[in-house]
Amino acid sequence: MSNPLILNLLLLFVILGSCVNGLGVNWGTQTTHQLPPKTIVQMLKDNGISKVKLFDAHQGTMIALAGSDIEVMVAIPNKDLLDMNSYDRAKQWVKRNVTRYNFKGGVSIKYVAVGNEPFLKAYNGSFLNTTFPALQNIQNALNEAGVGDSIKATVPLNADVYESPENNPYPSFGRFRTDILGQMTQIVEFLAKNNAPFTVNIYPFLSLYGNDDFPFNYAFFDGGTPIVDSGTGIQYTNVFDANFDTLVSALKAVGHGDMPMIVGEVGWPTDGDKNANNGNAYRFYNGLLPKLAANKGTPLRPGYIEVYLFGLVDEDAKSIDPGYFERHWGIFRYDGQPKFAMDLSGQGQNKMLIGASGVKYMPSQWCMLNPDAKDMSKLVDNIKYACTWSDCTALGYGSSCNNLDANGNASYAFNMYYQIKNQDELACGFQGLGKVTTQNLSQGQCSFIIQLDPSYSPQSSSYSSSPSLWGLAFIMILTFMLL
Ligand SMILES: *[C@@H]1O[C@H](CO)[C@@H](O)[C@H](O)[C@H]1NC(C)=O
Ligand SMILES: *[C@@H]1O[C@H](CO)[C@@H](O)[C@H](O)[C@H]1NC(C)=O
Ligand SMILES: *[C@@H]1O[C@H](CO)[C@@H](O)[C@H](O)[C@H]1NC(C)=O
Ligand SMILES: *[C@@H]1O[C@H](CO)[C@@H](O)[C@H](O)[C@H]1NC(C)=O
Ligand SMILES: *[C@@H]1O[C@H](CO)[C@@H](O)[C@H](O)[C@H]1NC(C)=O
Repeated sequence: MSNPLILNLLLLFVILGSCVNGLGVNWGTQTTHQLPPKTIVQMLKDNGISKVKLFDAHQGTMIALAGSDIEVMVAIPNKDLLDMNSYDRAKQWVKRNVTRYNFKGGVSIKYVAVGNEPFLKAYNGSFLNTTFPALQNIQNALNEAGVGDSIKATVPLNADVYESPENNPYPSFGRFRTDILGQMTQIVEFLAKNNAPFTVNIYPFLSLYGNDDFPFNYAFFDGGTPIVDSGTGIQYTNVFDANFDTLVSALKAVGHGDMPMIVGEVGWPTDGDKNANNGNAYRFYNGLLPKLAANKGTPLRPGYIEVYLFGLVDEDAKSIDPGYFERHWGIFRYDGQPKFAMDLSGQGQNKMLIGASGVKYMPSQWCMLNPDAKDMSKLVDNIKYACTWSDCTALGYGSSCNNLDANGNASYAFNMYYQIKNQDELACGFQGLGKVTTQNLSQGQCSFIIQLDPSYSPQSSSYSSSPSLWGLAFIMILTFMLL
């Protein structure tokens, strides 16, 4: 009965049918302990994810993606935009990070993201004058290198580059923000001239975050009370559609209503806020994915939408300026294991994603508050220290570990620091308040984690300097090709 050919065919069938056509995901790497890039690439393949969006162009990531047929959006971080205002630097960037990988068996690069949400109001206009010249230089360099027909430069922008007026808060009244209208118009016209898409990040979760008046159900795709656009009479039942169509209107207002659009980021976090949990994330994706699979589009743009989910794995070293939820956007945990049922095929089946395989953890030992400790006068300072240098976002209001008692809080903080420090015994000192234990302290929803084994997990970003043997061979091939 166990005919391997049939089994393989079955497996192939399962893999091919396992994902919304053309679904992408964001692969961020701001973690203290990375999963090896080739493990991540295997996860993408196992789950049928065919596109990936990066936030840089690190060699280790690119090497892992080589030969995978996964379509890639590489990126230039905001801090490098000014550099790219020099055409020579832009040409170097393209040569080193795009054309170098552009051969059969190389990396299938489709887009270059120029900056990441550079016009966010929080940046106070810091990147206002450097984004458009960088976009021009990168696309022109791609064109000059002869790859501009198939590789497009685009700028992933956040949804606060456009808005509707307060007296007409409906999608059909959408316009680009007046303070950046000049820049936006130039960018849109340049994208149009090069047949490049507009990329936008849309976050229904953020509509809800810190805004208790926002109609809760409207953040999801089921049960939102219809809101009628007074300009068109169209009914909107979710903020994703309304947001997307506001951009369609803004593009139309500058003469490009039919410009191709990509949703560069969309997703729901699972911890760090009262609305961030597995249940809400499940509900969000269980509405989004079937909608995408059915190519429903939005009222103003019916049909296929190219979408990149945010994000792949939790990133415990991300800035928490926007909120504690920032470190919990993954559809997978820090260790590549799925968090909740999610059917990427959009058929709404109650199944789990395929997790990372071969993950190696450190030994099963935790750091806790020593129950025999007498002098508690330094406890608060030590918790503060532990939390400053690790990740205590799960302790916050409405989060997974918010129910711990005071001792539990201390142990949680101590353990996070101890794990981030690779279980170094000295990292469980805490002036005599810490104690190593082999007893699993997890309780209920609150997970006391064991971090990835550092010998297995390349440490943040330095991993590109220690590629595998195969990676070395690959670099030699690349070097050879450059000569
Ligand atoms: C290529 O990308 C990497 C990673 O984003 C960056 O550090 C490097 O400076 C880029 N190379 C060039 C020549 O610009
Ligand atoms: C933007 O301005 C505000 C208020 O002036 C300041 O607090 C913040 O640090 C600034 N942010 C950046 C990225 O410059
Ligand atoms: C951008 O250019 C404008 C107009 O030339 C200028 O007023 C503004 O200060 C510049 N902004 C930055 C951040 O350099
Ligand atoms: C535990 O820590 C959280 C977050 O700092 C805090 O809200 C909560 O009150 C603490 N619980 C106790 C019992 O101290
Ligand atoms: C600790 O316990 C939790 C909850 O029972 C479990 O999910 C986790 O796998 C355990 N961790 C280890 C390292 O055994």
